[in-house]
Amino acid sequence: MPDESKKPQDSSSPQSPGSPGSEFRDTDTTHVNEIHQRIVAREEEEPEEGFEPPPWWVWAISVLILFAMGFYLGRYGGSWSTLAHEVEQPAVEGGGAVKRVVKGDQVYAAVCQTCHQATGIGISGQYPPLVGSEWVTNDPETPVRVVLFGFEGPVTVKGTTYNNKMPPFHDKLSDDEIAAVVTHIRSSWGNAAKEVTSEAVKTLRADLGTRAPWSASELQALKPKK
Ligand code: HEC
Repeated sequence: MPDESKKPQDSSSPQSPGSPGSEFRDTDTTHVNEIHQRIVAREEEEPEEGFEPPPWWVWAISVLILFAMGFYLGRYGGSWSTLAHEVEQPAVEGGGAVKRVVKGDQVYAAVCQTCHQATGIGISGQYPPLVGSEWVTNDPETPVRVVLFGFEGPVTVKGTTYNNKMPPFHDKLSDDEIAAVVTHIRSSWGNAAKEVTSEAVKTLRADLGTRAPWSASELQALKPKK
């Protein structure tokens, strides 16, 4: 049996392909590696499905859509203001001139209601009531001052003391809106005080310039003496 006699000889022979240090084998491997290297270097990278670069017009359309959406938001977004949804009703005044009429209840719902609540009762310990409040229903200037520049520090409303912060609205609400909302709180939920005009708001705004939120004592000092 020639096969069986060869096998052990092969594995022990220094010239056999399996043994290290064989000269033939070394040159052989280098050669093959070199050739293989050259072939590999010549090949283009394999394209992978799903990773092809998108065609130029996809970029162009994306940029156009982004630009159009940005323009639309800028033009019609209303700077994210809650008053953007305010319904202003054009009313015809004498001589046919069209004047914007701002609805006090709508300004109230959009701006004040989160704190002072829909029925003006406030939230116990946090937001004082506007119903029956001496700050609302006495002179018309006090509530306008409060809405313009906010209110902070201890304040007593209907016998209960609050010590919280109300933000200013001088840069968010127009004279018309402040007049409307103050008129609204002075004449709703059982309050029955006189209307406040936009002219009155305009005058107060001009007199006050800009200032920090009021304290109760500052407002008290400004109240007309009875
Ligand atoms: C973020 C909550 C908040 C909003 C919004 C807010 N207020 Fe106030 N308001 C307060 C707080 C708090 C006080 C009491 C401040 C203090 O403790 O010094 C106050 C006080 C007042 C007062 C004097 C005290 C009283 O109860 O009569 C009036 C008047 C008033 N707010 C009206 C308004 C009106 C009108 C608006 C809407 C234009 C408004 N507030 C929006 C929180 C708010």
